[in-house]
Amino acid sequence: MSDYIWFEGIPFPAIGYEKKIIEESRDKFVIRDEDTVILTYPKSGTNWLIEIVCLIQTKGNPKWIQSVPVWERSPWIETQNGYAMLINKEGPCLMSSHLPIHLFPKSFFRSKAKFSVIYVFRNPRDVLVSGYFFWDKSNLIKMPESLETYFEWFLKGNVPYGSWFEHTCSWLSMRERDNFLVLSYEDMKKSTRGTIEKICDFLGRKLEPDELDLVLKYSSFQAMKEKNVSNFSLIIKDVIINGLALMRKGVAGDWKNHFTVAQAETFDKVFQEKMAGFPPGLFPWK
Ligand code: A3P
Repeated sequence: MSDYIWFEGIPFPAIGYEKKIIEESRDKFVIRDEDTVILTYPKSGTNWLIEIVCLIQTKGNPKWIQSVPVWERSPWIETQNGYAMLINKEGPCLMSSHLPIHLFPKSFFRSKAKFSVIYVFRNPRDVLVSGYFFWDKSNLIKMPESLETYFEWFLKGNVPYGSWFEHTCSWLSMRERDNFLVLSYEDMKKSTRGTIEKICDFLGRKLEPDELDLVLKYSSFQAMKEKNVSNFSLIIKDVIINGLALMRKGVAGDWKNHFTVAQAETFDKVFQEKMAGFPPGLFPWK
């Protein structure tokens, strides 16, 4: 059981992070025009999107995704290992981040920045449930006693990377930028092929129909679940307890199996209050 590392009001997992690196990634790390960034709040489908983008880059050839762990294919900018890998990499890089906007590399805010950012958001109720079952089996954060406790922490933003609401509000406000593609986990589930095509268009990649079929096949929940370079079973031993698993259920709406009626009502109220500035049609869930 570990407590957080706090940096500028944001809690980060206690293993794999360091204040100095988080600060350096914001102030010194330069994202180049040819780079692609996968940006999410944790538990929103990050690893799924990485798998899809890697497969698009290889035109559906699974060799890369089957032999190299996901955190090496698309290192997290703000982690100790990820940062070390990225500052030494040459050529166009694929990278990931869960950073809130005020801690993101300043190079994003240059008016001429052209690198591609793909942002995925997910129903926060499912993010909450997914996070509870994930962090609970890791040594990365203080263990919540129950889903009820974690529910309270989540609403207060006392969970890894802080408040979902603040994270999502600030990143969604960037959605009109040309180099910023916004996707939702729910749309990815409903129309995976359509989403892959959208990503190809955004990244300027043309895939033949049979190549697209391969991207779909190798990024499926089942294919990822069976592969240890994607399912987190290779993650360092001191992080795992009780069989931590990234690939839990992979569905939309599982929160309905876990929230009480009172929790659902409380959540609705908070959501309406905090997300009032956005058109309701932006959120594709019921
Ligand atoms: P659940 O815990 O609800 O199953 P992240 O990668 O951001 O940590 O998100 C993890 C969530 O994405 C998990 O949700 C996981 O099952 C889901 N996921 C990962 N790969 C997926 C895929 N190929 N298809 C659908 N969901 C996927």
